[in-house]
Amino acid sequence: MRILLTGSAGFIGFHTAKALLARGDEVVGLDNFSPYYDPQLKEDRNAQLKKEENFTLIRGSILDRKTVAKAMKGVDRICHLAALAGVRYSFEHPEEYIATNIQGFFEVLDEAQKQQVPGLIYASSSSVYGGNTEIPFKESDRTDDQLSLYGMNKKDNELMAHTYHHLYGLPVTGLRFFTVYGPWGRPDMALFLFTDAILHGRPINVFGHGKMQRDFTYVDDIVAGIVASIDKNYPEEVFNLGCGRREELMDYIKMVEAACGREAKKNFMPMQPGDVVTTDADISRARKMLGYEPKTMIREGVPKFVAWYREYYDL
Ligand SMILES: NC(=O)c1ccc[n+]([C@@H]2O[C@H](COP(=O)([O-])OP(=O)(O)OC[C@H]3O[C@@H](n4cnc5c(N)ncnc54)[C@H](O)[C@@H]3O)[C@@H](O)[C@H]2O)c1
Repeated sequence: MRILLTGSAGFIGFHTAKALLARGDEVVGLDNFSPYYDPQLKEDRNAQLKKEENFTLIRGSILDRKTVAKAMKGVDRICHLAALAGVRYSFEHPEEYIATNIQGFFEVLDEAQKQQVPGLIYASSSSVYGGNTEIPFKESDRTDDQLSLYGMNKKDNELMAHTYHHLYGLPVTGLRFFTVYGPWGRPDMALFLFTDAILHGRPINVFGHGKMQRDFTYVDDIVAGIVASIDKNYPEEVFNLGCGRREELMDYIKMVEAACGREAKKNFMPMQPGDVVTTDADISRARKMLGYEPKTMIREGVPKFVAWYREYYDL
């Protein structure tokens, strides 16, 4: 297949591109190397992809309709991952979030409909569950109690996709990712921040006084779910993609400490606005309909990240 992958220089996009190229698909990447975090990391991911014969990069923004239209020509699927992805950053830059995550999503969706692309798979998030207290989170739970602008953006994307499917029959699959981690991970996420601080002897900030729980998902498992969704191309679906188990934040930190070979100095802090105490995915729907089966638990996944971090930063 020929696949348009937006956000190809991003963390999940990079791993998805590698998997698609490895099985023989042609990948057209679209990314604007947004400066939201160190663009060098994006350049380095992209340098790996450039070595592949079936990879083409279009350097541009999803907000530019002409670029989107050109990138979409003749594709069999769109995998739309480009977004501003941090919950906390959305408080500081609301206008950028509305532009990229809502207007940008619209440009991709509307052009997909105009060009009658056979299928669109897009990134949603566990954040759409917001204030939901029913654990584990099921796709059928209500998702109208948004706690952050980012969560609201992703919920809006699901509604927009639903409307386009209803009006024009565009096949759409939304994937609610749960705290994805792994090599080449994002510098604004906990695992990166913890590893970086511990290895440089700085204290780590532990929010929610360490009483939070997260469903942490290894990036290769997420990619398997994305690829299965591309292949199944259901008419209209939303799936949770998590590991399917919740881990205590303090246990996660212990694993980072073990992998770094040092104990962290910890600053215990209150919850941050927009954060939730627990995330936990019910993944039975993805298991049944996508054959999704997470394979990497945090005890194997965390050391893989730390090993990558040491190598990349030459520590
Ligand atoms: N990583 C997670 O834990 C997680 C969890 C839930 C949902 N998600 C979603 O998954 C997707 C990928 O996340 P990620 O962790 O790889 O983030 P990332 O920031 O590493 O990747 C996003 C990519 O999109 C690009 N981008 C941003 N604005 C753009 C624009 N206007 N035009 C073109 N490209 C643009 C960025 O340059 C970046 O390379 C996002 O939609 C995110 O919201 C991620």
